[in-house]
Amino acid sequence: MEYIFSLEFIYLIASITYILGLKMLGHPETARKGNLIAAGGMTLAIFGTLFLYQGEVSAQIYAFIGLAIFIGTIIGWLVAKKVAMTKMPELVSLFNGMGGASAALIGLIEFHHYVGDTISIVTILAGVIIGSISFSGSMIAWAKLNGTINKPLRLPKYNLLNNVIFVVLIFFAAYIAYIGSSSQLYLYILFFGALAYGVLFVLPIGGADMPVVISLLNSFTGLAAALGGFLYGNMVMLTGGILVGSAGTILTFAMCDAMNRSLFNVIFGGFGDTDTSAEGGSSAIKGTIKKTTASDVAILMNYSQRIIFVPGYGLAVAQAQHAIHELEQLLISKGIEVKYAIHPVAGRMPGHMNVLLAETNVDYDKLAEMEDVNPEFKNTDVVFVVGANDVVNPAAHNDPSSPIYGMPILDVENAKQIIVNKRSMKPGYAGIENELFYNQKTSMLFGDAKTIIQALITELKGM
Ligand code: TAP
Repeated sequence: MEYIFSLEFIYLIASITYILGLKMLGHPETARKGNLIAAGGMTLAIFGTLFLYQGEVSAQIYAFIGLAIFIGTIIGWLVAKKVAMTKMPELVSLFNGMGGASAALIGLIEFHHYVGDTISIVTILAGVIIGSISFSGSMIAWAKLNGTINKPLRLPKYNLLNNVIFVVLIFFAAYIAYIGSSSQLYLYILFFGALAYGVLFVLPIGGADMPVVISLLNSFTGLAAALGGFLYGNMVMLTGGILVGSAGTILTFAMCDAMNRSLFNVIFGGFGDTDTSAEGGSSAIKGTIKKTTASDVAILMNYSQRIIFVPGYGLAVAQAQHAIHELEQLLISKGIEVKYAIHPVAGRMPGHMNVLLAETNVDYDKLAEMEDVNPEFKNTDVVFVVGANDVVNPAAHNDPSSPIYGMPILDVENAKQIIVNKRSMKPGYAGIENELFYNQKTSMLFGDAKTIIQALITELKGM
């Protein structure tokens, strides 16, 4: 009985909830519950630590902790409630930065307590370096995603410079540990050096690669938290940190795979900085586009047997998830087979389209993954591309000079008819033109996704 009320037992339960939660995040149907379970475990760990900790803690410290929890909960709650789905990567970046900062602060505070204990000092210095890089890097990623930093900022020979700074940081930390220094000055030089490195590391990376960078920094934060857990011998912090670190690493590589890029290329390649702001886009591709209207598309859909929707970032921007679900149901009620083709990096964050469509209760069986759906396009009467661009760009197959060459895409050009809905001829995130729009089978249905889909629904209802 005594064990049940011990901190070890609470930490064991919390660790299990993290693993369970993470597993459940793997499927849209269980993801929400998984998130709640892991959050419940975290709450248990926090309150377990507060009330079952054996050491001496003054009432004043309790008051500070209580106040911090209160303020943090209110801010976190309000921000999470308010944030638009399309802004989620920014929020993740901000939260991740806070995790990195916490890990670095632990190091700054604990350093002088452990002078003389080399293993602990090495752990602390590693935590300070990794946590600081994660904090400042995440802040830059956040500023890039929300447009505050909208131009690539690269110092001359920035890759070489960054590598030199990184090596100097490591040697400096090794020196502090080796001489057993208790100098706060050295510690703060290391701290500010690591902060500067985080900024310089993320600044040159292209905007389109920010989600990958955030995931990478997320794994750094996990590692920094795990180091804190190791320092304190705190099992729940160690487990949580390891899980975040490994999940972040797996996600980073999964995203790179889905874009057919190496992590090296993401970090040193400067991809996705092409200016996409030009009204009407450039016109390197020769050919003409064919425009269509909602009423023509409605007729086409009405006489189809199989339709595949291809949602992309624009669906999220337009908040057209409810409308597309209504369109899907309407078509099904007319005896037409409808599916959604989901590209792994459609949108701006992993699982973006799944989350968006889950919000409107689209049946999970209707969501087809890229590998499964690609062979089906040739038997499809109409492909309806809604706010997607890069993920259906045939340049990934045909143009070795294209920055997305080799990226697996949805082979929509194999369908009998292709309808593309977007607002203009502007490129997508990678900043490149799309020859699909000039394909003879393609008709462009210009307009905001929600307005267009609602027009289609009205037309179809009248048929
Ligand atoms: P994009 O290639 O970014 O294209 C989205 C298109 O939506 C744009 O061309 C835009 O054209 C259109 N659009 C915007 N607002 C719209 C609205 N209200 N109504 C209708 N259309 C609208 O999107 P995608 O095909 O989903 O590809 C995702 C890109 O992000 C890829 O390059 C991918 O590598 C990158 N990326 C994604 C991730 C993850 S994890 N998802 C991570 C890193 C990078 P208009 O402006 O003309 O309307």
